[in-house]
Amino acid sequence: MELLQTADWKKEKHVPVIEVLKWDNGVVEVKVSVGKEIPHPNTTEHHIAWIELIFHPEGEKFPYVVGRTEFAAHGASVEGPNTSGVYTEPVAHFTFKTEKGGKLIAFSYCNIHGLWMNETELK
Ligand SMILES: [Fe+2]
Repeated sequence: MELLQTADWKKEKHVPVIEVLKWDNGVVEVKVSVGKEIPHPNTTEHHIAWIELIFHPEGEKFPYVVGRTEFAAHGASVEGPNTSGVYTEPVAHFTFKTEKGGKLIAFSYCNIHGLWMNETELK
């Protein structure tokens, strides 16, 4: 059984899409989102709960967790599920410093379909 799942994000709605917005003077800005091509459901019962970004510098043994964004609003209110009309969108922005390139690895977690990953080079 595979713990982590991955696929082409253009065909599979759970895969996190990693976009390096810039790498300027050692400061990296990365956007990670789910559902860029095919929207993922966002309901109390079925939603993306969090996205995490990891950076593995080239030639180093250990990776570093850059950060995690939790998506906390999924329509629930005192009236019940899907009644608040408030839904956090699964989009996360991370900013960090590095002089070295390496691999950016993103995880996304769907509350019912498990852990998904994607990766790209920072170069
Ligand atoms: Fe899902």
